Amino acid sequence: MESNSFNETIGIWISDKKSQKLNWKELINTCAAFNYNVVKLDLDQSLDDQARIDVFLHKLTDIIAAADQGDPKASIIINRVEQFLSNHPEIVVIDPLESVRILLNRNCYYSILQDETSFSNQGIFTPNFAEFTYNVIERNIEIMKQRGVTFPLVCKPTLAHGSKSAHEMVIIFNEKDLGACKPPCVVQSFVNHNAVLHKVFLVGDRYHICERPSIKNFTSSENLDPIYYSTGEVCKADSQSTLSILDPHDNADITLTVNEEKIKSIIRVLRKKIGLLLAGFDVVIDNATGNHAVIDINVFPSYDNFPNFFEHLLDSINNIRKANGHINGDCNGISDLTNRLNGLYNVGRDPVKYGVKGMNVD
Ligand SMILES: Nc1ncnc2c1ncn2[C@@H]1O[C@H](COP(=O)(O)OP(=O)(O)OP(=O)(O)O)[C@@H](O)[C@H]1O
Ligand SMILES: [Mg+2]
Repeated sequence: MESNSFNETIGIWISDKKSQKLNWKELINTCAAFNYNVVKLDLDQSLDDQARIDVFLHKLTDIIAAADQGDPKASIIINRVEQFLSNHPEIVVIDPLESVRILLNRNCYYSILQDETSFSNQGIFTPNFAEFTYNVIERNIEIMKQRGVTFPLVCKPTLAHGSKSAHEMVIIFNEKDLGACKPPCVVQSFVNHNAVLHKVFLVGDRYHICERPSIKNFTSSENLDPIYYSTGEVCKADSQSTLSILDPHDNADITLTVNEEKIKSIIRVLRKKIGLLLAGFDVVIDNATGNHAVIDINVFPSYDNFPNFFEHLLDSINNIRKANGHINGDCNGISDLTNRLNGLYNVGRDPVKYGVKGMNVD
């Protein structure tokens, strides 16, 4: 990638698949407007030899997950990156690898959510869950009972990234079908939510909420067989799964509206406890209570439809660098929405028009 004469440099690593979907032209133009060069990093080579970088922006989730599973090639890459970053503590990392690691493991981040005592009196919860390490049904029934997990449940692989199978889910309706679980996995009580998923995308303190199709309502049953699905088939913007079609007796006219104060409370907790600049989370609204259930948290999600994603990204990066004393407060004519708005900011109602589109890196 060409190097220009700007003062600052952002080194980027994302997978080839995501790279093909990324609007590099828009990214480079926006970086230029913020006085940054962009360098695409090659993780198979020494990082010190490639460029002097001020910011390291990455989506290394799959490689970290593979390294943690013992993949030797992935381990070499992650060691190289970690060594480079520890030699260069001045580099701002979006996002720190230890924070990313928290979100690789569903048991780990559901535990963080469930431990948040402030949620319950605000009508926010994470559905009861338990981890299965072995496929011993009697033992797993015990674990479920102890942890208050009820049928129907969703069984999800414990590892949330690293392979296609990380997104392969099973809905199970009764004890006799618990053998459909493939440990290591997490089972989580299914929340009826009228087949609407609310995805929240975060760039620091800015957020954007989108609706997606989801799974219809169910009750426990001795007669229903397990239902297998992959998230991509059901919950992408253009998915048209029959699993999303509500049964006639379900009242689809009842609109469950997102409560933005609840969303903001969730964001504050995630910022405090996990601290990623680039993250997203999924919320379903319990159709019996209106309570908001957080069912998933993601690292560097697809930001399709996030208005002016690149400006918000660069602006947020500069805010971090300012806070760290790397750049001064008035450089580059940065819009600095954070200081101006002093809190969380819904970009869906962005009054500032930059004329640049969002992106899709998923
Ligand atoms: N507890 C639950 N109750 C009801 N539906 C659920 C629950 N958990 C998951 N789902 C449904 O299954 C889908 C996939 O679950 P989840 O978001 O945990 O998986 P994922 O593959 O990690 O998703 P992503 O693609 O966002 O990373 C959800 O979008 C939702 O439709
Ligand atoms: Mg999800």
